[in-house]
Amino acid sequence: MDSKTILVTGSNSGIGYLTALILANQGHHVIIHGRNEQKVKTALSEIKKQSGNEKIDSIVADLSIMSEVTRLATELKEKYDHLDALVNNAGSQMGKERSVTIEGHEKTMAINTFAPLLLSESLLDLLEKSADGRIVTVSSASYNQGTSDRYLDDIELANNYEFGRVYGLSKLYVLWLMWHLNDKLQERGSKVTVNCMEPGSALTNLGSEAAANRPKIWKVIYALWRPMMVDPAIPGETNARLATGNEFHGLTGMFFDKNGRIEKENRKYYSKENEQKLWNYCMQILTPYLDK
Ligand SMILES: NC(=O)c1ccc[n+]([C@@H]2O[C@H](COP(=O)([O-])OP(=O)(O)OC[C@H]3O[C@@H](n4cnc5c(N)ncnc54)[C@H](OP(=O)(O)O)[C@@H]3O)[C@@H](O)[C@H]2O)c1
Repeated sequence: MDSKTILVTGSNSGIGYLTALILANQGHHVIIHGRNEQKVKTALSEIKKQSGNEKIDSIVADLSIMSEVTRLATELKEKYDHLDALVNNAGSQMGKERSVTIEGHEKTMAINTFAPLLLSESLLDLLEKSADGRIVTVSSASYNQGTSDRYLDDIELANNYEFGRVYGLSKLYVLWLMWHLNDKLQERGSKVTVNCMEPGSALTNLGSEAAANRPKIWKVIYALWRPMMVDPAIPGETNARLATGNEFHGLTGMFFDKNGRIEKENRKYYSKENEQKLWNYCMQILTPYLDK
């Protein structure tokens, strides 16, 4: 197998860690990422040790901050002459109080929705230098909970915040944005493919940051649900296959389940008009960062 250069965001733990480890085991040049320097260092040395692959690099950036996303992209562009795949895996769930980043954005939307779009757009030049550039974005089946067009006039839920709703909507919106990006790339004849995946319910640290700040009923539901959760290696393997597998070559605009099967997504509230409205909102926020 050819060695490919792949960035996996949020790869110091959970699904992203296993994605990076699988890719490292296959001999790829993996760039692992996280926001905490120490956690990234630990993951880097573990992955090197377990895979015996020394071609592993790392980068640190807090993806809730758009200027950090831009800084990460700039550093990658300085260091690498191409990128074969970007796996937008980093994601988070917040608590019952709405939290806002230092740039003024609702934090769940910033990490799960704005950052993958900004990073994908910022790294397109590098991905287009690959013969088989791929963008893989991890959404969630929770997008079904967010499936509504009621909040398109309040995308960051300043007046309608609820932590389950914001997570669901962030994972719905990232799908719409990736479809829009895919259409744009297709129109201009780009070879870069754009696909999304939902990893099922996997036992990871997801949401642990804000776990204390959750309604009590959520803790009960989580405890009952926990035994049903799958090994994060399953979606990790699918991420790795979507990023490099020959069976996915040229496939674009698709939504896959945790096993890599094409899933028919719920488009009940989807319309081109809603997608464009969301895109315009995001571009208004992100254009200053893209122009840098
Ligand atoms: N686990 C599930 O059942 C499930 C279901 C549906 C979708 N997903 C999605 O799967 C993806 C991976 O999540 P996971 O389950 O593997 O959870 P996880 O173990 O918590 O991993 C999430 C990763 O994202 C990173 N991250 C979080 N906030 C960040 C920020 N502000 N800047 C940079 N990196 C940040 C985390 O870094 P830290 O270690 O520093 O927090 C971690 O590396 C996420 O997009 C999640 O929404 C998971």
